Order: sequence, then structure tokens, then C-alpha cells
Amino acid sequence: MIYLDNSATTRPHPQVVEVVKRAMETYYGNPSSLHQKGLEAENILKQARAVAARFLGCKPSEIIFTSGGTESNNAAIKGVAMQFQSRGRHIITTSVEHPAVYDVCKQLEEFGFSVTYLPVDSAGRVSVEDLKRAIRPDTILVSVMHVNNELGTVQPIAEIGALLKQHPKILFHVDAVQSVGKLPIRLKEWGIDLLSVSAHKFYGPRGVGILYKREGLILQPLLMGGGQEGGFRSGTENLPAIAGMAKAIRLLEEMGPEEPARLASITQVLRQGLAEIPGCVVNTPSEGAAPHIVNVSFPGMKAEVLLHALEERGYLVSTKSACSSKANEPSRVLMAALQDRERALSAIRISVGRENTIEEARAFVAAASECVASIRPHMKAKA
Ligand SMILES: Cc1ncc(COP(=O)(O)O)c(C=O)c1O
Repeated sequence: MIYLDNSATTRPHPQVVEVVKRAMETYYGNPSSLHQKGLEAENILKQARAVAARFLGCKPSEIIFTSGGTESNNAAIKGVAMQFQSRGRHIITTSVEHPAVYDVCKQLEEFGFSVTYLPVDSAGRVSVEDLKRAIRPDTILVSVMHVNNELGTVQPIAEIGALLKQHPKILFHVDAVQSVGKLPIRLKEWGIDLLSVSAHKFYGPRGVGILYKREGLILQPLLMGGGQEGGFRSGTENLPAIAGMAKAIRLLEEMGPEEPARLASITQVLRQGLAEIPGCVVNTPSEGAAPHIVNVSFPGMKAEVLLHALEERGYLVSTKSACSSKANEPSRVLMAALQDRERALSAIRISVGRENTIEEARAFVAAASECVASIRPHMKAKA
């Protein structure tokens, strides 16, 4: 099987698995305990925090370990909403966010908050001008993702950050779950107050992530209890997963900037090859997309049928985001960008990772071409 669904999740790096196992076996103490086993565990936690802080270019005290992207997004958005509701109850986000942001905003609307969902262009990109116009005196938060998980579109985070510098009371949250390890992230330069990270998207364990919270920013915690993570995220730390995530970060650093460039050369082969298949439309923008995602449509064809035909030939891809696969409903994200039900219903996402090669991309294109050719006559017959 050739795994081409790395945006849904990645296969953990073997060295990450090793570190998780060793941490479970050896560092089983509670980091809050005062004895030797507790101190050992606390030390591992401290090292992991230092690794994460160095990688993101922030202070260790600005790193909060969470259970992943969903929790980081919830903690950031609800934390701001609860803390600053007396100042204002308006939030700006986009129509293409992951449900871990979008549905949180929907939930906050039920609690009396007002949310502006910015539209996107056909590439899935928001306009900074639209954002500027949406700002109101009662706006407390802007939440925009860095890389879109379905299309791979990169949002203008630096420009949004620059705009928001003129509005110092508005906080800026970025869901960077799909961009870590693929694109540089400049927290300070871009004026980011809160940033969400998830380890399983970069060969780390599931159920662990980071919320970067700018120093001095006080928010209402989502989880109350024992006061771990500076009182912002209570609960005994998931030490094996945190150690595994730190290992995954170290491995990203070792791979260096050549790896995103290598991924981009693989997706380039996919884009060009797939575009030549009759009836194929490439949805991922040719400029300003992340290196690891290609989304294409075959209007008239059911995405699931193509997905299973590809699976029979040994290729694993995705229809829409793994986290929102309500049957027969076109993806909200693709509808917002493409405004075309047929294209949205026939879209497949191919997302590559460290184990994929150019040769696999070429073989995939050939297999996709065969699949499309074998499905098409049945479509005509049905019509
Ligand atoms: C952009 C984005 N945000 C958030 C999440 C949720 O992250 P997690 O699976 O760690 O909860 C995902 C996962 O698919 C994602 O792609």
C-alpha cells in the first residue's frame, strides 16, 4: 500500500515510537511528584518544552502542551472569548477553517457571540481587505488557519499580522496544524498571539499538540484542575506523547528545509500528471500552496468510487477532510472556494509525506488515469 493521506495523519517515525516506548517504561513518574521518579519525568518535560520553544522561536513558558490541534484551537478561541467578552463579543474567522475552529465559532454564536466568516476566492484564499472591512470596535479575536487541510492553500498570515498590529487589542490565533514542518512560522514577526500545533501531522504521536500562548496573555482555561501547564491546562501531562512529539520536532529539524522542497517536487509531478487526465480539474492553487497537498476533481465522478478504485490498486487517498466525512454532503471548504457542487463532490486529496517518492507519484498518476478510464464508461451508461 502506498500511503498518500498524510494530511489526515502521518505514520509515526520509528524513532518517535522508540522514544514513546522508552518514556512509558522508564519515565513513569508524575512530573508533579517530589521524588526521584517525579523529578526524572519533570526533566523530560522540561527538555521537550525547550525543544518546542526553540523550534517555534519562543520562550519555554509560552509553550502549553495539549491533546492536539482540536484542543489547542478550542482552548485558544474559547479562552479568548471567555476572558474578553466584556470588551467585545465579535470574532472574525474564515469560511474554510477546520471544524475545530469553525464549529467552535458556531458554538460561541449560540452563547451570544457574533462571528464573521470571511469568504475566500477560488483558490481558497481570504482577502486582507475583506478582513480589514470586517473589523469592528467590539472585535476581540481573528482566527485564520495557516495552511488549509483540504486544498493546501496558504493564507496571508504575515499580511494579516501586519494589519492587526494597527489593532493591538485584537488577538490573533493561527491554526498551524497543517503547516508545521512544511512552511516557516514566524510567531513574533507576524504578531501571532496564539498558535495551534498537532504532533500526528509531522510523524509524532496522536493526541498530543501545542498551544503557543504569547507571554503575558491571560486567558480563561478550558480545563481546570491540578494547575499543570502554568495553570492553563490542568491534567497529568501525557509525558510519553510529549517526549515523542519533541523527538518528531528534532527529526523535522534534522530533515531541514530540503524536505519541504522534496515534497513540493513530488506534488508537482502529481499536479502535472493528473492535470493531463481527461476531465481532471486541479483545485489546489498553482501558486501559494503548501508543498504536501494536491486536491483534484473529476466532475461527474463520485469521489468515493475513485477512492476505492485507487485503493484496489494500492493507493490510499482521501475524499474530504477525514474529520468531516458526512456522506453525500459536499465539503463546506471546497464549496466556499470552488462554488461548484459537482467539483466538490468529485474531489480527492492526495497528501504526501517523508516516505513518499517521485516514482510513487508517477505510478500514482498512471493508476489514477486507469481508474478514471475504467469508471467513465459506467458513468455514461448510467446517464
Ligand atoms: C487544519 C487542522 N486543524 C486542526 C486539526 C485537528 O487536529 P487534531 O487531529 O490534532 O485534533 C486538523 C486535523 O485534521 C487540521 O487539519
